[in-house]
Amino acid sequence: MSFWSFLWIPVLVFLLGYAEGQWRNSLPVQPYDDSNSLPQLPVSCPVPDPKLYYLPVIGILTHPGDGASGRLSNATTASFIPASYVKFAESGGARVIPLIYNEPEENLLKKLELVNGVIFTGGWANAGLYYETARKIFTKVLEKNDAGNYFPLYGICLGFELLSMIINKDINILEEFSASNQASTLQFIDNANIEESVFQRFPPDLLKKLSTDCLVMQNHRYGLSPERLLNNQKLSSFFEIVTTCVDENDKVYVSTVRSRNYPVTGFQWHPEKNAFGWRSSRIPHTEDAIRVTQYVANFLVSEARKSTTRPLAQEVLDNLIYNYIPTHGGKAGRGYDEVYLFT
Ligand SMILES: *[C@@H]1O[C@H](CO)[C@@H](O)[C@H](O)[C@H]1NC(C)=O
Repeated sequence: MSFWSFLWIPVLVFLLGYAEGQWRNSLPVQPYDDSNSLPQLPVSCPVPDPKLYYLPVIGILTHPGDGASGRLSNATTASFIPASYVKFAESGGARVIPLIYNEPEENLLKKLELVNGVIFTGGWANAGLYYETARKIFTKVLEKNDAGNYFPLYGICLGFELLSMIINKDINILEEFSASNQASTLQFIDNANIEESVFQRFPPDLLKKLSTDCLVMQNHRYGLSPERLLNNQKLSSFFEIVTTCVDENDKVYVSTVRSRNYPVTGFQWHPEKNAFGWRSSRIPHTEDAIRVTQYVANFLVSEARKSTTRPLAQEVLDNLIYNYIPTHGGKAGRGYDEVYLFT
């Protein structure tokens, strides 16, 4: 064995090391991730619209119970928010503050000064303190808008039913329908005011598919027929019908409404479920269905950015949903997937 026959080893080691160095050098530079220590480079980004608020917060009213049939809590004071509604609001670019239905009214009123819009969720409770709290919040929302503070409200499923009961000032307004656990299309009424509705920024292809493909989830036993709404003076002067649907017995019900004079939208269907609900195999999860969730969330937050409420940052932080930890409530194979519980 001659010395020369081993020379290839150091040569190979050198070549490998060189190649690796080249590969490393070709990676994009990742500076130490501490934004505060980065040099401030001159930027030329346009100033955002000063009329809009870019730190919007959505208040979500809690619903009585634990959202898991007693598996999480039997406390009579317990209330919950399905995490799907929180994620829905967050996905539109907002943070969330829970409006706990049975907390002292003074707290609730303070929290309403920290948020830029409100969601009434789905559920089943429609009486007592819960109804009263929803009524008070709704009244405040109208007051804010009347005073020039643009302030959106989404009433989803039960939330829409509550709005109808509150506006009618008589809870006996709803009719029974068979639309439990089913996906459906949305039928736009003739001359529907799409431009001023939640559908205003839906791309034409998706708007069209809404009426042909089952892209929305229904889960309700009550609702309003278009006749009932139109023949009710209080409801028809407040709401304009945008879409209807048919139930299992071919009975037509109102599925989306917009307020004529306020940024209030009512949904009999569940925009939050497509992207964030998994407990039923009927929930549509196609890419188009997810887009529906996203456009509906975007609309809520785009409306909330118009609100003139500009709370103190620390007060917002103290009340954010980030102060609570959600629980996997659907582990038993039923109930909501994930809930925020307030006891
Ligand atoms: C609530 O009550 C039910 C029925 O008594 C019981 O099975 C369940 O374990 C209770 N839940 C909790 C969280 O204690």
